[in-house]
Amino acid sequence: MKDRLFVEKRGSIGKDFINSLYILFKTALIHDLKNVALNSTVDKVIEFIHLLLAEDESFSLKVVQEHLFIDEVKIKVDIENFLASMFLIEEMKKRGVGSITFSTHLSIDELKRFIYAFISTDLKSPQSFEEFINKLTSLAVTRITIDRVKEEVENFDHVLEDTREMAKKIYFKTIAVASEIMDSEKLKNSAGIKKAKRLVQSMVDVMLQEESTLLGLTTLRAYDEYTYNHSVNVSILSIAMGQRLGYHRRELSELGIAALFHDIGKTGLPLELLNKPTEFTAEEWELMRKHPVNGVKTLLKLKGLQEQAIRMIMVSFEHHLNYDLSGYPKLATPRRVSLFGRITSIADCYDALTSARIYNRNPFIPDKALSFMVKKSNTAFDPILLKIFINVVGIYPVGTLLLLNTRELGVVTKANPTPTNIHKPRIKLITDPEGNEIDGNVIDLSENQGRSIVRSLDHRKYEINVSKYFQ
Ligand SMILES: [Fe+2]
Ligand SMILES: [Fe+2]
Repeated sequence: MKDRLFVEKRGSIGKDFINSLYILFKTALIHDLKNVALNSTVDKVIEFIHLLLAEDESFSLKVVQEHLFIDEVKIKVDIENFLASMFLIEEMKKRGVGSITFSTHLSIDELKRFIYAFISTDLKSPQSFEEFINKLTSLAVTRITIDRVKEEVENFDHVLEDTREMAKKIYFKTIAVASEIMDSEKLKNSAGIKKAKRLVQSMVDVMLQEESTLLGLTTLRAYDEYTYNHSVNVSILSIAMGQRLGYHRRELSELGIAALFHDIGKTGLPLELLNKPTEFTAEEWELMRKHPVNGVKTLLKLKGLQEQAIRMIMVSFEHHLNYDLSGYPKLATPRRVSLFGRITSIADCYDALTSARIYNRNPFIPDKALSFMVKKSNTAFDPILLKIFINVVGIYPVGTLLLLNTRELGVVTKANPTPTNIHKPRIKLITDPEGNEIDGNVIDLSENQGRSIVRSLDHRKYEINVSKYFQ
């Protein structure tokens, strides 16, 4: 397997390449190929092709299910390249093209001929792939070759499967390490923190490749030890927000680590209190409210953290302060809550509201938790960050059980990245219209004309274990 840096670099050049190719196709659809308007866009595409060819003789742009890959590296879809990705996937599929391979020494002229062959292919003909390939031959295009959509889907399933497997391993390992470190005895040991750092780094890497898997894992509630499960979830949700804010890998890791330890001040508290099934007494609340400051004290004693420690300390101190400082601890002098603090407090509240922990037997279902939080926009939460958070998890977050107009039930597997389609996530059908459990297809509600959401349901009432769809 190629190293992380390679994957990250390919991913980001790949994104630029896809965007430039999209602009080229769009320009070519309006202008004649001889038009000078095309020149600068062709130059851009060639520039990115050269960058992608820096280490190999050739590379392939592939469509696998709903994703684009540059060789084995999946190109992440975000708001900026969403249209470009959708366009290329659709246009390639229409022509029966599964992959386009670009080889060294490709000239500007040859690229133009390829574009011409591509856009002039008759899509109504069932033989459009053959027609396309004949055109390429007659135009003497040899440095760009095409392949049909084929069984490669299976091969790539392995790649996706591997990433998912890896995501799961990392998730559970991080929970284990978090529980190990938060055991106060081991806190003094910097080796544990280093381990946590490495794991958070791996989470960030998985996140950059396969965000929905990790977000899906946050719906798992199998752990008795709520605090560790919660800490890892808050870390994942914070990283996902950081990604939307355009943070780089290093900043994402710093945010992830700080979020992972936001409740470190709870380590000194007795388990009976943390897991108390009934309401807290006034004294118990007072004790609970000390955990942000206790966290600061604990973190100050940690060795080997250097500049990272400051951010961790801030997050521990600030995560219950609230945007308008109405939370705790009370401050003598008002000050603005740091960006990391504002991010983690949103992730923290959401995970706490949706978790079935011992003293919260009736947790909110995800979309209800979001509406509850929206009411506190501008008071408890930074309104812009809250909007970003909703965009991350979707109005119907991953794991939400939905009733459809067809009377089928489905579980959200992926939020829709397009802001205008945020209410149309991707779902897996789990029952037929009669209510019989099925291992149904994954469908995209934004593409599925016949199906729409009636409402979200509480999966616990239906005794449906939604997290099993992410395992
Ligand atoms: Fe907390
Ligand atoms: Fe928390």
